[in-house]
Amino acid sequence: MSHWQELEHKYYMNTFKRTPLTLVKGQGARVWDEDGREYLDFVAGWAVNNLGHCPPVVIEAVTGQVQTLIQTSNQFYTIPQIRLAELLVQNSCLDKVFFCNSGAEANEGAVKLARRYGQCYLSRAYEVITAMSSFHGRTLAMVAATGQTKFQKPYIPLPTGFVNVEYNSIEAIKAATTKQTCAVMLEPVQGESGVNLPDDNYLAAVQAWCDQKGILLILDEIQTGLGRTGTLFAYEQYGIEPDIMTLAKGLAGGIPIGAILAKDRASVFTPGEHGSTFGGNPLACAAGYATLQFILDNDIAGNARRVGQYLTTGLEGLREKFQFITDVRGCGLLVALEFSSDIAQSMVTVCLDRGLLVNQVKPNALRFMPALTIGNEEVDEALGILDSALASINQRLE
Ligand SMILES: Cc1ncc(COP(=O)(O)O)c(C=O)c1O
Repeated sequence: MSHWQELEHKYYMNTFKRTPLTLVKGQGARVWDEDGREYLDFVAGWAVNNLGHCPPVVIEAVTGQVQTLIQTSNQFYTIPQIRLAELLVQNSCLDKVFFCNSGAEANEGAVKLARRYGQCYLSRAYEVITAMSSFHGRTLAMVAATGQTKFQKPYIPLPTGFVNVEYNSIEAIKAATTKQTCAVMLEPVQGESGVNLPDDNYLAAVQAWCDQKGILLILDEIQTGLGRTGTLFAYEQYGIEPDIMTLAKGLAGGIPIGAILAKDRASVFTPGEHGSTFGGNPLACAAGYATLQFILDNDIAGNARRVGQYLTTGLEGLREKFQFITDVRGCGLLVALEFSSDIAQSMVTVCLDRGLLVNQVKPNALRFMPALTIGNEEVDEALGILDSALASINQRLE
């Protein structure tokens, strides 16, 4: 264990099961450790660094903004906030925006907005239906929304008002809908629990049901948004339009930010009902504007789709070679590789040793979520390392 890692154990709360690697520098799809060793990064800050590490457009925007105006309060108007809100509205099916600082905070706000809508239009209905194996964040309410007991158990009793139902079952949502229901909240593709794709027509059926019942559809696009799945927002691929959508992670090129977007009819907050000190600050919004404009101007979503397809095809090739690979699934550059046994942690370690950073999303599955700016060359390099790592694990299994 290095000096810095020892200090971390001494001073930092014991919340993360970290890979034994201290990163000091990043550029594009690559990072460097404290000894100067280079790695190809297929974790990308947990799907945050969509434009790679230290993207020049974000450096330029932040450098300019940090010398002009970093933070005001929301008592005043600021231009970067308004520009980013306009750009988001112009490029989505939503009409209004609220900025905050993280994904969990965006989802909290979305649930507050849905409850407010319930108070105004649905006889005070307040319950939100969410899916099992979802992930919506770490605040108490979002732990309750997250349909995974391992995150909920340590904090019981949890806030009420959430019903977790089976994912990919429209019948489960129908059965859980009562007079108390104000919204259904889903990730279009479940990221944290293993890149679980929605069945054909599931999301369209959920939207039709929400419309029929007059309740809101909230899509958590915190991981899937901003080009990650091959379109700017994942909902575009499923022929649906959410009433509320949340964003965070990749929105500002690595600078912390979160956003709630809503259709006009669902945008029911009035002054004083919601707020944030740092939310929508000029610095984060300038970074967000530069990031989103770059994504749009350079068809980064299209690149994610094409390179994601190339990655998936390459992984399918590995699946043919190694019997213990049981599944390759994904969308754009959000891809999982599943094994017949719990070897994901060993794969992380062997890949690390060979210069590739990957994420263990389940004991038996890896998740790949590199920068959306990578090309086929980086994929070839990653596939080469994965191939040799799989061969070495295969030897151990035999
Ligand atoms: C789909 C989804 N929602 C919410 C969150 C929480 O975001 P944050 O960690 O910024 O609070 C995450 C984080 O991984 C996520 O993937």
